[in-house]
Amino acid sequence: MARITAGVGSSHVPLLGVAVDQGKTGDEYFGPIFAGYEWTKAWEAEQEPDVVVLIYNDHASAFDANIIPTFAIGCGELYKPADEGWGPRPVPDVEGHADLGWHIAQSLILDDFDMTIINEMDVDHGLTVPLSMMFGRPAKWPVKVVPLAVNVVTYPVPSGNRCWALGEAIARAVKSFPEDLDVQIWGTGGMSHQLQGPRAGLLNREWDNKFMDLLVGDTQDARSIPHIEYLREAGSEGIEMVMWLIMRGALGTKTRCLHRHYHIPCSNTAIGHIVLEPEA
Ligand code: DHB
Ligand code: FE
Repeated sequence: MARITAGVGSSHVPLLGVAVDQGKTGDEYFGPIFAGYEWTKAWEAEQEPDVVVLIYNDHASAFDANIIPTFAIGCGELYKPADEGWGPRPVPDVEGHADLGWHIAQSLILDDFDMTIINEMDVDHGLTVPLSMMFGRPAKWPVKVVPLAVNVVTYPVPSGNRCWALGEAIARAVKSFPEDLDVQIWGTGGMSHQLQGPRAGLLNREWDNKFMDLLVGDTQDARSIPHIEYLREAGSEGIEMVMWLIMRGALGTKTRCLHRHYHIPCSNTAIGHIVLEPEA
């Protein structure tokens, strides 16, 4: 049977993709950011997961104001890097796992989560930057990916509690997939950042770290953080962090932290990264 072996949380700042693509990851600005991912790169190489269920948000690359799915799951065979205005990133195409994608979609929908099913879409920095952070610059990504896109761009976005519950349902879905697969779940986005308006540039080290504390152990307090708290404390784009709760929800009652990293700033954003294991 398939199993969820670990969860990863990570920011997905587009500038990090530029740093990787232009070979600048060791310079004065990016060095300390990428240093915090070295542990994870070595760990991923050792773990060799088969599939990543990659929770991310599309930034008006695949979807736009015409169609705004709250939760959309990729059931396709292949996803191309999106053109985000400067041409598509020079990274490999992302191979899907259509059988697992369809299985999770069916399980979630029968479990009362009304997913949008996507067979074809391009994937933007929300998905490709975390792959680069974890795997560097391979000729081919070493994992298959089931993309799960969450609307955190246009109000109303899903609650943290709903996201956590979706994670629990994803765990049930993965566990009932008959193939023998090691599956990781990644939650991306955040941490604190605001890209617009009078508070543009807002960062909140203390709140971000409290949020990461809440992902470890057996507390479920993060489920009840209201939207207004993300907006006030973590900025308008800090709401991306509800996606980390899908990852946390999928890890069960208790987690152990294997690795954690925090750095301010990167572009307009606070970089947060955590690696979690489910604890029996
Ligand atoms: C930035 C961060 C994001 O999460 C994003 O999606 C786009 C830009 C930034 O800090 O520049
Ligand atoms: Fe983003």
